[in-house]
Amino acid sequence: MFINGLVRNRIIITGSNGILGQRVVEFYSSKNNIELLTTSVEDSPVSNSAEYVSCDIKCRDKIKKLIYDYCPDFIIHTAAFTNVDLSEKQREETWKINVKGVEYISEAARIIDALMIHISSDYIFDGKDGPYDENSTPNPIGYYGRTKLASENALKISGSLFTILRTNVLYGTAVNSRPDFLRWVIESLNKNEEIRIVDDQINNPTFIDDLVQAINKIIELKKTGVYNIGGPEFLSRFEFTNRIADFFKLNKNLIFAITTKELNQLARRPLKSGLLTLKAEIELGYKSHSLEGSFAIIKKELGI
Ligand SMILES: NC(=O)c1ccc[n+]([C@@H]2O[C@H](COP(=O)([O-])OP(=O)(O)OC[C@H]3O[C@@H](n4cnc5c(N)ncnc54)[C@H](OP(=O)(O)O)[C@@H]3O)[C@@H](O)[C@H]2O)c1
Repeated sequence: MFINGLVRNRIIITGSNGILGQRVVEFYSSKNNIELLTTSVEDSPVSNSAEYVSCDIKCRDKIKKLIYDYCPDFIIHTAAFTNVDLSEKQREETWKINVKGVEYISEAARIIDALMIHISSDYIFDGKDGPYDENSTPNPIGYYGRTKLASENALKISGSLFTILRTNVLYGTAVNSRPDFLRWVIESLNKNEEIRIVDDQINNPTFIDDLVQAINKIIELKKTGVYNIGGPEFLSRFEFTNRIADFFKLNKNLIFAITTKELNQLARRPLKSGLLTLKAEIELGYKSHSLEGSFAIIKKELGI
């Protein structure tokens, strides 16, 4: 939309109270060529930096009315049921949020020609032979992963303009959200608590700010399709934890390696995973921060 000769994009951000959602809100609420509406299921926003409407995406009419009334150019869809273990028990709730929610939003997006940017996960893969590229064959081994794959398929047949950004092991600061993995490690080791970390799950952990930059590139270039967004290094969660402890000068003697089997979680996890990002690097100019580069930004933001 042009106002006084300036392009002004109207954006809706769903899941705006979540770890990723908050960071996307922080990024766009500071831009003056953007009109922004944020939404999440809670009654009130965690930050007052933008207009907020509480809406449960399970409610078809409510979420579609919200989209029609605001008529955005872009919908950044970060809302999801993200508790992987709880998904195994609360299957109907997970399906309604992660799949039906995407169906309802894409229906409205199609009608108003909005580009829907959807966040998916490496959990659509079985982790037998990662890392994966955008053409690798999905084979989810847990219910959460099944809903994320079904959400992608729902979008692909929706007839709406869409971009799917697959990511893995998000870390970074969203001030008011539940601690991400990195902050949990720092807080635990600062309290001299022993932590047991799996050494057989391989990923390329993704700095949230890199994913936010990728989302912004999609909007600037109006790119559609599927893109992997991940970090520069493939390493085990145990190695990642030791890199965090090294950088933040924390006691590595409190970090113990265990296997995923020993952790005995409700949901199975893909072990040899990770997402190759060559396509995003070539088509979006995507460039991820080094691990230590991202840690330095987080250190400054957290003031620690
Ligand atoms: N975190 C990771 O490592 C990771 C890895 C791969 C992919 N992803 C994907 O990245 C996206 C963002 O993940 P995240 O870690 O930022 O998730 P998160 O912190 O759990 O945030 C999810 C957001 O969705 C909202 N939400 C949940 N149910 C809803 C409903 N029924 N209606 C409206 N909003 C609802 C939550 O609202 P409330 O806060 O109000 O409950 C929250 O704001 C998700 O699609 C996730 O699947 C995450």
